[in-house]
Amino acid sequence: SNNIVVAIDGYSSCGKSTLAKALAKELHFIYVDSGAMYRAVALYFLRNNIDMQNHKQVAQALKNIHLNFHSRDYQTHITLNDEEVSDEIRLMPVSEKVSTVAAIREVRVEMVKQQQRLGKSKSIVMDGRDIGTVVFPDAQVKLFMTADPKIRAERRYKELLPKNPDITLEEVFDNLAHRDYQDTTREESPLVRAEDAIILDNTDLTPKEQLLFALSKIE
Ligand code: C5P
Repeated sequence: SNNIVVAIDGYSSCGKSTLAKALAKELHFIYVDSGAMYRAVALYFLRNNIDMQNHKQVAQALKNIHLNFHSRDYQTHITLNDEEVSDEIRLMPVSEKVSTVAAIREVRVEMVKQQQRLGKSKSIVMDGRDIGTVVFPDAQVKLFMTADPKIRAERRYKELLPKNPDITLEEVFDNLAHRDYQDTTREESPLVRAEDAIILDNTDLTPKEQLLFALSKIE
């Protein structure tokens, strides 16, 4: 097949999804938010009190979880067993749990399988933590995004505030730091830059500027 994969990895709240959506729009590719899949799994684990140490329970839970993307206007619309959960997976309870759930080997094996299926026949832009290293090691384009942690926390805080009036900047900063720590130090496919990934530090870039940078690397 001659479909193209653009893999975007990086730390939490680095603007990966902003760039991925813009690129997908520009290139007429499908956007896939792999983090939303781990978040939906974390939501299911929370709701059903899944004991993460219990391999049998985890395996059974994974069998009971059915995820689907409905791409409209390049936003992430994800369903968990036919229920729209796109908003709920962004809330703090899920953000606090997701990196622990995403460190479980069985969870990753299943999600990677589904992600690879999505990129098999269509040109896609996928963002996450292990897309260029594990999911699509042969991706034609790989970007690794980073930005100053304080800037990242401020951006995410502003984004969350309208729907979470009680949230604090400190809480958001701590959550990002905590997830980055868990994501880079875990045993199963830790967040690491693929050797052939282009680094994009967007601390001082606008969304438009980072899109132009990425496009210049793709041409
Ligand atoms: O991308 P987002 O920040 O929504 O991802 C939420 C969490 O899901 C990450 O902090 C990470 O623990 C996990 N994740 C992952 N691998 C991916 C995408 C996300 O482990 N490819």
